[in-house]
Amino acid sequence: MTPPVAIREAAPNDAPALAPLLGELGYPVGAETLAYRLDRLAGRPDHVVLVAEDEIGAVGLLALHVFPLIAYDHDVGMIMALVVTERARGTGVGRALIDRAEAVAKSLGASRLLVTTHVRRADAHQFYERLGFEFTGRRYVRPIA
Ligand SMILES: CC(C)(COP(=O)(O)OP(=O)(O)OC[C@H]1O[C@@H](n2cnc3c(N)ncnc32)[C@H](O)[C@@H]1OP(=O)(O)O)[C@@H](O)C(=O)NCCC(=O)NCCS
Repeated sequence: MTPPVAIREAAPNDAPALAPLLGELGYPVGAETLAYRLDRLAGRPDHVVLVAEDEIGAVGLLALHVFPLIAYDHDVGMIMALVVTERARGTGVGRALIDRAEAVAKSLGASRLLVTTHVRRADAHQFYERLGFEFTGRRYVRPIA
């Protein structure tokens, strides 16, 4: 399926359109704060934020971080955030964002894509497995006091 979307790198002035998407993902944020975060990420060559747009506006967001690991020769591309707005789900936008992220990660030297996802996101688990991601482990989190 070819999704009716264009994918490009996000810029800080996309913040008003992208803030509601992060809200849908469960990370509510104001446009001004998000513009600051996008500005910080834009200054880092190992971070890429992708936005998918249809004729109405932004429908998807993917944030990618490419970094080296001591255990492997090649970098890993980690998906830090992925969300498709509800009205556009099931139309291939998520797959298109992952495909683009894979191409970007490869161009930056990565040989694998990695994502961690909350246990409650059962839909996302099925999506990732459908796209060829293998379930290999658990994630533990501890706040730093
Ligand atoms: C998970 C999410 C990004 C998927 O995006 P999407 O645009 O709806 O997915 P696509 O339409 O590109 O689907 C790609 C494939 O995955 C399959 N798929 C998607 N969601 C699925 C689900 N819940 N169950 C089973 N298969 C699913 C599709 O059938 C499709 O398969 P096909 O291409 O072989 O027909 C989207 O549902 C979303 O934003 N969910 C809420 C936020 C979230 O959970 N984000 C992930 C955080 S880690």
